[in-house]
Amino acid sequence: MSPIDPRLAAGRRFLKANWSDIEGVTTEQSTGVPVPAMEKPCPPGAAVVDLVPADRLTVGTLSVREAIAGRRSRRAFSPGSLSLEELSYLLWATQGIAKLTPKWSLRTSPSGGARHPFETYLAVFRVDGVEPGLWRYQPVEHRLCRLSRSVEGMAAELDAALFEQLFGCAVAFLWTAVPYRTEWRYHVVSHKVILLDAGHVCQNLYLACESIGCGACALGAYDQQALDRFLGVDGEEEMAIYAAPVGRRKPGGEG
Ligand SMILES: Cc1cc2nc3c(=O)[nH]c(=O)nc-3n(C[C@H](O)[C@H](O)[C@H](O)COP(=O)(O)O)c2cc1C
Repeated sequence: MSPIDPRLAAGRRFLKANWSDIEGVTTEQSTGVPVPAMEKPCPPGAAVVDLVPADRLTVGTLSVREAIAGRRSRRAFSPGSLSLEELSYLLWATQGIAKLTPKWSLRTSPSGGARHPFETYLAVFRVDGVEPGLWRYQPVEHRLCRLSRSVEGMAAELDAALFEQLFGCAVAFLWTAVPYRTEWRYHVVSHKVILLDAGHVCQNLYLACESIGCGACALGAYDQQALDRFLGVDGEEEMAIYAAPVGRRKPGGEG
């Protein structure tokens, strides 16, 4: 057998991130460095939209079994809008906080060490009560903050960054990772944990979409630099990590 391509070997090493590698490593947490913030602040003066609180949600009552059985990656959507309640539900289902302390939060999706290293950005096209544009979710306040990006050309720029995979969605979920939130606790094994965490978030989105007659498609293929630029993140302390267009389901739209 020919020797393995070193790039593949590096990828495989990443998959085997070894917990013994952090034995004896001084983590920021162990030296008493304060816990990193669990979310980014709203830009000063930004418009905000308060979302429907979790205890007032009425949508999404399909059984877990039916949601799992019906889930598919959906790449064609009807022209319909999502309601604010539906969007609130999807954000709660993916990153919503069930228990909050000053240092950690427990959410609807699990995260190694409860570090929750993600920010959720939304490119909104058709959501009742939310102006089209780029928004960011703040789970602590359960609200959206408007980001300054102009709407003009937004769909075209994002579609290019996503390799033409917007699929005419009503809203695109765009997740970034802030690696330091996990590195603070887990140092060199953080990066594998972050990717494992991301899978849980997107699976919750799939199932929650299924339960409200909507659909999603996980996107791991995108242009890293273009998406980071679109989101206005530096690609070092925060970088795009996963995306999913979401819309109302179109009969026969799976596949
Ligand atoms: C990590 C990950 C990345 C994916 N990336 C893409 C993608 O970039 N484009 C796409 O059309 N589908 C993407 N998918 C969806 C898969 O193609 C899909 O899950 C697979 O074909 C099985 O179909 P199903 O989800 O309907 O069961 C991705 C799925 C996962 C889990």
